[in-house]
Amino acid sequence: MFNPSRVVVAGASRTRDKIGYEVLRSIIESGFRGDIYPINPKADKILGHKSYPNVSEIPDHADLAVVVVPAESTLEVAENCGERNIHGLITITAGFKEVGPDGAELEEELLKICKRYRMGLLGPNCVGMIDTYSPLNASFAPCMPTQGDIAFISQSGALGTAILEWSAKERIGFSKFISLGNKADLDETDFIDALSRDPRTSVILAYVENIKRGREFIKVARKTTLKKPVVLLKSGVSESGARAASSHTGSIAGRDVSYNSAFKQSGVLRANSIEELFDYAMVFSTQPVPRNDRIAIVTNAGGPGIIATDACESYGLKLASFGIDTIEKLGRDLPSNASIYNPVDVIGDAKADRFEVALDTIMEDENVGIVLLIMTPQIVTEPKKTVRMLSELHQHFPEKPIVTSLMGGDSFYESLNILSSHHIPCYPFADRAVTSISALVRYARVLERPGKLIFPRYDANKPFVRRVLKKVAKDDRNVLLGHETTAIAKAYGINVPPTKLATTQEEAIEMADEIGYPVTVKISSPNIIHKTDIGGVKVGLSSPDEVKNARSEVLVNARRLVPTADVYGVEIQKMIPKGLELILGMSRDPQFGPLIMFGLGGIYVNFLRDVSFRLAPMTEETAFEMMQETKAYTLLRGVRGESEYDMDAVVDTILRISQLSLEFKELIEMDINPIVVYSKGDGVSALDVKMTIDREV
Ligand code: COA
Repeated sequence: MFNPSRVVVAGASRTRDKIGYEVLRSIIESGFRGDIYPINPKADKILGHKSYPNVSEIPDHADLAVVVVPAESTLEVAENCGERNIHGLITITAGFKEVGPDGAELEEELLKICKRYRMGLLGPNCVGMIDTYSPLNASFAPCMPTQGDIAFISQSGALGTAILEWSAKERIGFSKFISLGNKADLDETDFIDALSRDPRTSVILAYVENIKRGREFIKVARKTTLKKPVVLLKSGVSESGARAASSHTGSIAGRDVSYNSAFKQSGVLRANSIEELFDYAMVFSTQPVPRNDRIAIVTNAGGPGIIATDACESYGLKLASFGIDTIEKLGRDLPSNASIYNPVDVIGDAKADRFEVALDTIMEDENVGIVLLIMTPQIVTEPKKTVRMLSELHQHFPEKPIVTSLMGGDSFYESLNILSSHHIPCYPFADRAVTSISALVRYARVLERPGKLIFPRYDANKPFVRRVLKKVAKDDRNVLLGHETTAIAKAYGINVPPTKLATTQEEAIEMADEIGYPVTVKISSPNIIHKTDIGGVKVGLSSPDEVKNARSEVLVNARRLVPTADVYGVEIQKMIPKGLELILGMSRDPQFGPLIMFGLGGIYVNFLRDVSFRLAPMTEETAFEMMQETKAYTLLRGVRGESEYDMDAVVDTILRISQLSLEFKELIEMDINPIVVYSKGDGVSALDVKMTIDREV
């Protein structure tokens, strides 16, 4: 699609303003050097190009067809394109899935034809595609952007064209623009993959409303981000996890959590607004990745210097501590009322020479990895001279990223052009400059990741788990009983206290004897999930009599409070010693698969929400990172003289849950709450394990 030698425009129109006319005109005016074949049953020539009544009549092989015929004619046109061995179809025409079931059916048919002929399909219902280097503007966007190294993929056609027009004003150039439309076939993952190999593209930007193939996306994005940054704006952040979830994990994990985890795990940087998307693009397309993440700020304005410092702190960025030589030189060469420590304030009356002293000295300091210049207009300020000097310095220190913020108006107009022509990004406000620096620093960390990931694999008794799940499904249940979940956990090497189902009083006493006192007695019913709430749990039972009484009590409570519940009996479980209570869980995301949760456990999980998430499969390091992101991590390391808890055992359990969730797709939700963790070396015990299956899977 990117580099065709011949292009067909099916539905090229003779009438100015019709999309079929505009697309053909755009292709011609973009300077496309290959042959163009307009297709129109009623015309001989359009815009100076010989027109053909049908694709089957074009004189030569074409690589790409742009389709702008009315929706009802698209199938026939696609069929003709397939017969002529065309590889790519850009279907701009609307009237498909987006208009309802009939449109969806038409889209299915179109896709079938494309698959049959192994033709890639972009769209339908899209603006088209632009390649500024080919050059080819196969779209009805209002303008052709200037050349640059940013590729922009947009699920919204309208947003895409708005950005293209705006970018011209902002001096932003593009390598490619791709409007995804309905994504019937080619989607964001395909284009990220293709753009990862595009030598003209050094930054990939995308606006998406959803991601179609979550797991594939993670794989491709992970590979790509090791080569070039991928910045993504995903709308629908407010979308809540409104699924009816029976587990804590399910109710806390909204869809957006899966997206965030996917981006984190694949090294994709998420932008929170359109502004941020392009702010990041600007810094990535012009500046190198920093070798050292310490920032030096130079300014002629105290206030913005403090604002930038605060912004650095809020992003966890570090200000550089200058070396002794730097301090001495700044102290000697700057006026006594200047601030020579970071941020360096050269004071309002600074001319270009004073900026030069500060910037030159700081650039030389190897403690400094990134430089931020903030300038405000004062009567004596020499912006042009200053930015010219900065551009020269940039050439001497090409490995150190420089970011600027010229906070003002017209007096900076020419300076902005100078900065732009020297590829130094400039932001209208200091805090936006810092946000972009934070993206650079985050990306530097992405590049430090290992190239190959190791997902641990454990021996597990899969046939046993399959048998248990089959039995549950045969029983017409979605919710597993306690003795079943503990048996499954055990089959995956997760440490659980012995748990048995007793259907009679005699059995209950026999099992308690066998397990060894003290024990707990819990009601066993798929309809009673929160057992404690209905008095369905009795703990600390140390004799057969206590077990007998506890059993009767929980059965009576269940009958009284949930009379419709299906009661299977009671579970007898070994009492375990106290430790730190955590929660581990899993909720299956339809696009991304198992989303694993770690957090502080117990009854306040939903209120405190001290939790973190990652998608399975994951590495040991990722599982460890999950713990580090929570406040529970401070507790795990031991507070107030407590010894450290067994974090290795927690990591091990997280990884075992990941494997179990990946191997049994019918498991849709899981909570282990609490899982009790003991001192280092003493392991964990999964006290209460809940699992739900989807019998349709
Ligand atoms: N093969 C070749 N040409 C054909 C054809 C076929 N099977 N059927 C029609 N044409 C020609 C017509 O003769 C006409 O040319 P003419 O103006 O010289 O007579 C041209 O194709 C366009 O057909 P027309 O019937 O006039 O349609 P239109 O221009 O009103 O609308 C679309 C066509 C594709 C633009 C319209 O259906 C559409 O989808 N618009 C929305 C596009 C959009 O918004 N996309 C999403 C952006 S986010």
